[in-house]
Amino acid sequence: MDLTTIKEMIRIIPDFPKAGISFKDITTVIKDGVALKYIIDEMAERCSDRKIDIIAGPEARSFIIGAPLAYRLGVGFVPIRKPGKLPAETIKREYQLEYGTDAMELHKDAIKPGQNVLIVDDLLATGGTIITAVKLVEELGGNVTGLMFLIELTELGGRRTLSDYDVVSLIQYP
Ligand code: PRP
Repeated sequence: MDLTTIKEMIRIIPDFPKAGISFKDITTVIKDGVALKYIIDEMAERCSDRKIDIIAGPEARSFIIGAPLAYRLGVGFVPIRKPGKLPAETIKREYQLEYGTDAMELHKDAIKPGQNVLIVDDLLATGGTIITAVKLVEELGGNVTGLMFLIELTELGGRRTLSDYDVVSLIQYP
């Protein structure tokens, strides 16, 4: 297995969820046990020189990657969720998507001040989702040690939005 093969396994759906969006469907990767293990191991390898106390990720697809990566690194995983999903006391921020707007919440006690947090997601597009996740984590006093993505859409400028942070992506598309 290698990243070229993983890229070939990602299914491209034109005009989903609306015209002009070329959707990168990772279900075709994660249903394959060898491929799933490879991407998690590859992410773990790229974090090996980083101090990470806990991983956080925004709903929904980061959960599929973040939880096994947390298990692999021997740390916990914290979900950042759409409004109304988390049952205890939360903090909330609104954000813009590649298509539309939404908000996300994080449990107030999810991150302890000073914890080193790796934030994970399946895909970096404009960076709007992840910068919101970063702000939520920082609002609780977390130290964001890195941002890890399976896919980066380089021409959408996410890295510029995230220029203060260490961004790692395994696979890039223009
Ligand atoms: C997708 C993707 C990232 C985000 C990236 O999530 O999983 O979280 O968009 O876009 P951005 O960098 O422009 O913010 P989506 O909004 O489709 O949510 P879902 O995972 O709950 O379907």
